[in-house]
Amino acid sequence: MDQSEQKLPDIIPTHVAIIMDGNGRWARERHLPRLAGHRAGVEKLRRVLRAAVEFGIRYLTIYAFSTENWERPSREVRGLMNILEDVIDRELAEMHKNGVQLRHIGRLEGLSPELQEKVRHAIELTKDNKRLVLNVAWNYGGRDEIIHAIQGMIDDGVDSADVDEDMVHRYLFTSESPDPDLVIRTSGELRVSNFLIWQSAYSEWVFPDTYWPDFGPDQLREALWDYARRERRFGTVTAPIA
Ligand code: IPE
Ligand code: IPE
Ligand code: MG
Repeated sequence: MDQSEQKLPDIIPTHVAIIMDGNGRWARERHLPRLAGHRAGVEKLRRVLRAAVEFGIRYLTIYAFSTENWERPSREVRGLMNILEDVIDRELAEMHKNGVQLRHIGRLEGLSPELQEKVRHAIELTKDNKRLVLNVAWNYGGRDEIIHAIQGMIDDGVDSADVDEDMVHRYLFTSESPDPDLVIRTSGELRVSNFLIWQSAYSEWVFPDTYWPDFGPDQLREALWDYARRERRFGTVTAPIA
């Protein structure tokens, strides 16, 4: 890595979202079960979270379990649920100490009652923390989120004439976060896989060719440099045309 890249760029995105992908392939290359890849991924999440706080990122959203991931073998699904439970048990105190506010996006009601209770407790405990908001996308799907928002508006009797982008934003699971500035998908896959499909309309994307269990603070810093070099135009022009 170039020496200058050890530093941080001047422009740091407020909100970074990550599709943590490649745990299974990481494990397969090592002749390990897929769950070993997921466990290795948790270790990287811990480091990346710490780095995100240190780098001054204010919102971090992580895609950890999609609405489609229920279709995986039941052993893997159970293993992933156990991992979520373990992470809350082991990491909550440290996250709280570091000023991390935990939020959940997705349908919590799809989880076991015990797990729902743990997640609710973690959210309640950390709700006043201000250093970094960590949105955990678990049982999350972008299409499902839009359906949930439409249902919410209908249930609240919202007048169709009042539906605009701000209104939709208020009904999304991410209503309390700004749209992501940067979305990172690890593992080399070049697709959205139902993640933040409304919110990422004008996000910058990077696709590091690294499996999630190999992604750490250095790779996050590299992604931030990539982001800092982009020119965000939002459909307009940056300089007046002569
Ligand atoms: C991402 O890694 C983690 C989850 C989806 C839970 P994968 O499990 O999708 O890993 P690959 O894509 O099979 O390598
Ligand atoms: C997206 O990855 C979901 C998560 C990382 C949690 P997947 O591995 O499930 O997505 P596809 O199947 O490659 O599109
Ligand atoms: Mg995958």
